[in-house]
Amino acid sequence: MKRIIYISTVNRHLSEEEVESIGQISARNNHEVGITGVLIAVHDYFFQVLEGDEDTIANVVERIRRDPRHRDMHILKAETGISERLFPKWSMRTIRLAKSGDVILQAIRNLLQNIAQSHRIIERYTQPSVLKFLTEGINPLTVPPRKTEKIVLFCDMVGFSYLSDLFPVEEVADVVNAFLEVCSITLVEHGGVVAKYVGDCIIAYFEEGQADECIAACLEILRRISEMRRNTHNCHLMKFLYCGIGVAAGTVIEGNFGSSVKMDYTVLGGTVNLAARLEALTHEIAKPIALSKSVMEGASRPWPFALVGDLQLKGSSRPCPVYTLDHPLLDEFKGHTDLVEEMRQVCGDGVCGVVCPQTPNG
Ligand SMILES: Cc1cc2nc3c(=O)[nH]c(=O)nc-3n(C[C@H](O)[C@H](O)[C@H](O)COP(=O)(O)O)c2cc1C
Repeated sequence: MKRIIYISTVNRHLSEEEVESIGQISARNNHEVGITGVLIAVHDYFFQVLEGDEDTIANVVERIRRDPRHRDMHILKAETGISERLFPKWSMRTIRLAKSGDVILQAIRNLLQNIAQSHRIIERYTQPSVLKFLTEGINPLTVPPRKTEKIVLFCDMVGFSYLSDLFPVEEVADVVNAFLEVCSITLVEHGGVVAKYVGDCIIAYFEEGQADECIAACLEILRRISEMRRNTHNCHLMKFLYCGIGVAAGTVIEGNFGSSVKMDYTVLGGTVNLAARLEALTHEIAKPIALSKSVMEGASRPWPFALVGDLQLKGSSRPCPVYTLDHPLLDEFKGHTDLVEEMRQVCGDGVCGVVCPQTPNG
């Protein structure tokens, strides 16, 4: 059996009748499938314990998660293999604490508020794969390393070190965050997993059969970044935001790598190195996307693939075929040298953002 304990914030204020109705529907549904537990409503927070057969719990939790009345939901604890229920007699006993203005209730409300807030923060710092294990009741530290097939993607800002020395630190931080945000959201929207950030570089991966989604995500990243450049003041760092993306598909080792000080759940191996090398190569081939042959072979949609050539990559014993896409979005690319030249033309030799007037775009 499995037990899930979660806390959630409501999307809007729920009336007493609505909470009662949730309780009634829950009790009826849960009784039918052998789920027991308790639901506590305190002001804008719900605290719920659900226990029952593993698959049934997974279905119900998924249904509750999709309920539009939740703003967010944080799994506090997921236990598998439990043999005894905490609430064997309650299909879903619902307790509404917000009815009275008691100080104890106020304290409970603060407690739930703090727990929800801490989880919201911790979740943003935690890798999605680790969160997934935790919500499934698996201790990520006990997951053994395994070989799997993945499509690995590296995406990096062009000339970041150079640019970061020239622009005000706040502007650099804003642009790096905007870049990481737009890339990460796009990758996740297309089904990818953001494994980690290394400075201004994003390392992400897709499952073996997702080459089309991965390529679509690459093009969408370029489109969104192009739009960000267009909508920016002339002398703002964002105006010079370009990125290189390297993608390779193949075998990786997925698992926990790290030390007693810090642990990463990530992917390692030749495919990961190849993706990094392909990303570095984008500057040389003057195209923002460089793909391995395996990515091209894994795709099924009619993408405009173009062979760049058999290129010698650092660390590899023989030349390997590198592909890009023949697409107008890729023509906007600027490598490091072109970028520096453009910056000089637009901003002169002054420090941008400090000496240049912030004139509107165009
Ligand atoms: C805080 C909260 C807790 C809920 N708990 C349960 C539950 O334990 N069991 C359940 O079947 N539905 C629960 N629901 C309701 C589901 O989200 C969903 O509306 C309901 O299962 C649909 O049931 P129906 O198809 O019978 O109308 C909960 C909803 C909220 C907002």
